[in-house]
Amino acid sequence: MTDLIASLRDEARMAPESGIVEVVSFGRERADLIPLWVGEGDLPTPEFIARAASASLARGETFYTHQRGIPVLRQALADYHLHQFGKDWGAERYFVTGSGMQAIQIAVRLVAGNGDEVVYPSPAWPNLPAALEIAGARAIPVPLTFADDGWTLDADRLIAAVTPRTRAIYLNSPSNPTGWTADRDTLQALLGEARRRGLWIIADEVYSRFVRGGLERAPSFIDIAEPDERILYVNTFSKNWAMTGWRVGWLSAPPEIGQVVENLIQYSTSGVAEFMQHAAHAALTDGEAFLAEQVRRADLGLEIVTTALGTTARARFAVPRGAFYLFFGIEGEADSRALAKRIVSETGVGLAPGIAFGAEGEGFLRLCFARSPTDLHAAAARLRDWIAR
Ligand SMILES: Cc1ncc(COP(=O)(O)O)c(C=O)c1O
Repeated sequence: MTDLIASLRDEARMAPESGIVEVVSFGRERADLIPLWVGEGDLPTPEFIARAASASLARGETFYTHQRGIPVLRQALADYHLHQFGKDWGAERYFVTGSGMQAIQIAVRLVAGNGDEVVYPSPAWPNLPAALEIAGARAIPVPLTFADDGWTLDADRLIAAVTPRTRAIYLNSPSNPTGWTADRDTLQALLGEARRRGLWIIADEVYSRFVRGGLERAPSFIDIAEPDERILYVNTFSKNWAMTGWRVGWLSAPPEIGQVVENLIQYSTSGVAEFMQHAAHAALTDGEAFLAEQVRRADLGLEIVTTALGTTARARFAVPRGAFYLFFGIEGEADSRALAKRIVSETGVGLAPGIAFGAEGEGFLRLCFARSPTDLHAAAARLRDWIAR
């Protein structure tokens, strides 16, 4: 280790390199690459959203702006939630953030610091434990259980992991990478326990619109909770409206803590660029048709990859109830990092190694099926042939 690195703060120095990026860096130059390793679709942001940003720039809206978000966007967020959940919780609880990731950062900063613990079902998106550990808190994974008919969370097991140091439960439903989606009873059990123990809940609902079976959305704590409870809802424009590169999301929190949230925004990004907020506003107000098309495309993508992998006796997977990932294993292959590298070298299909999502993900690979049917047919055929070779 060089002196420069050694002299950095431990928590920063120890932050792990992303296990997904490691495989991407290894395989990105492969000819005929079909990249299914990152968490985004292949459609560019719809033009009507980009136009709203351009129009704002043309109006000269290039100055510092509202820390909590421009009022018109916060109201649109309230209207969107009213439409989705039938609850009018008002605009004051919405805070526009520079991505879902920043909403997680703020949520962590609000509730967990040195020595505090946060429990969460695992496999999980690795950015959550990393954000906790950078803040000096401890990430406590609780295994989801895999079976051919789906991943399940034993709520009692999660509750049993709560200690006097636990400050929060992080729940990502639908889940990246497993597609596990909490039902109302599970949400109720966790909320009941959080209430009893005075814990916060960080509810990461960024995939809530990507659910199978024609449902409009996944079950949410919003269905069963009061607006002033200890729940921080994390969300993003990235997935629903193909805006991953824009970096804009939102946090929904009890208005009572609004000034604290505003301060954390002030001392990190000092707010999201106004032209991006107008784009986000266009997405919320006019984006339902595009979102419906994305969901339809993901349903088709899932059908394509599961049909192809289902023909090999060696692929193990549960059909995910939500999000847009297939998390699958291959019989006899235990080292997911080595496996992902071999697969990209030998087939040109880019997959994320399960180990990147925690020890509980080892032996699995994550495939993002939010892509064109043509690409998915080609990738699935290559994988099927490789597995059966
Ligand atoms: C579970 C989960 N939460 C939050 C995010 C954050 O998304 P973004 O930072 O693009 O808004 C992602 C992105 O992959 C995710 O998978």
